Amino acid sequence: MRVLVTGGMGYIGSHTCVQMIEAGMTPIILDNLYNSKKSVLSRIEMLTGVSPAFYEGDIRDRTFLDKVFAENKIDAVIHFAGLKAVGESVEKPLEYYDNNVHGTLVLVEAMRAAGVGSLIFSSSATVYGDPASVPIKEDFPTSATNPYGRSKLMVEECLTDIQHAYPEMSITLLRYFNPVGSHQSGLMGEDPQGIPNNLMPFISQVAVGRREFLSVFGDDYPTVDGTGVRDYIHVLDLADGHLAALTHKGSEAGLHIYNLGTGNGFSVLQMIDAFSKAAGVEVAYQVVSRRPGDIAECWADPAKAKEELHWQATRTIDDMTADTWRWQSSNPDGYPDL
Ligand code: NAD
Ligand code: UD1
Repeated sequence: MRVLVTGGMGYIGSHTCVQMIEAGMTPIILDNLYNSKKSVLSRIEMLTGVSPAFYEGDIRDRTFLDKVFAENKIDAVIHFAGLKAVGESVEKPLEYYDNNVHGTLVLVEAMRAAGVGSLIFSSSATVYGDPASVPIKEDFPTSATNPYGRSKLMVEECLTDIQHAYPEMSITLLRYFNPVGSHQSGLMGEDPQGIPNNLMPFISQVAVGRREFLSVFGDDYPTVDGTGVRDYIHVLDLADGHLAALTHKGSEAGLHIYNLGTGNGFSVLQMIDAFSKAAGVEVAYQVVSRRPGDIAECWADPAKAKEELHWQATRTIDDMTADTWRWQSSNPDGYPDL
């Protein structure tokens, strides 16, 4: 199966490409390298022995997309490309709507023109807003509190309308919980530019000595120890979820929606503890006030994906922290510049 992977040089996309190649699929990567480096390609090749086709360009460039579709016989598209920093989206909403919403519409137009009818979209648990209860099921109400979340929700709504209008299409919305971890080789991982927004990359940069301490955003939530609880999922489990979605739903017309999470919640302090054990170093932290927009707890009910995609997360918190540490300690500055 030949799959166009937009954003395939990024964190989740690159790990998904490795798993696809190992499963005998052929990824064709399209990325504008806005948030990734070209050296990712050589890491994919080191791990798999295959250097995937790579097109450097933007999903908003229709002429470029038409060329990519014309040059490759593509069976399906996995659409990771987009901007993802919540705080930045508040400062730059136009860029977020242009990249995430407009970009997806251009991509789907090009798919239709090329006769490609199968799409998997990277959505997020952020579309559940502040859920009334946990675990979260796919039929819970959706809402958004910032432009990033709203862009994901808008794309979900656009794709729902598009699938309704073109019922022969297969569109799968995958709602990720909190992706963390790295390839077990230590050769690939998350490489955020600038100050990390998310917990795991921040913890690992403290552990490796790039930052002095972690700020824990609030310890007065109604949770197990007062700190925020999330459903952390290993990026390779997440990648495998895409393969399962392609295999089981990618050729079935309809709109398919799945949570990709483990079903377990861990607090910030539990994550610090697990990471300190994996790395063998203390992770310094200070409790500060809550981060605006944060919720107390969030974890998935992953039963639907298990039943319909025959997929479930298998990697543990110890795998997530040990693999993150292997990547961070052997690549303290992330991927090299070429
Ligand atoms: P990432 O930034 O590492 O990867 C995204 C890739 O898309 C980057 O390589 C970037 O250069 C590329 N890109 C961005 N805009 C583009 C454009 N207009 N044209 C072509 N390429 C473009 O992010 P990630 O963590 O791998 O996330 C992948 C997807 O999953 C995103 O859509 C994100 O919103 C979604 N998601 C991520 C998380 C998370 O915690 N990482 C959680 C939920 C959902
Ligand atoms: C955040 C985004 C969400 C996005 C997801 C993946 C917000 C409000 N939400 O989710 O929209 O889909 O990332 O990109 O930004 N924490 C600290 N100190 C830190 C960083 C985080 O204590 O330096 C805490 C947070 O308060 C939270 C937990 O760690 O309780 C996880 O935070 P994070 O990794 O940013 O993920 P989310 O907030 O779940």
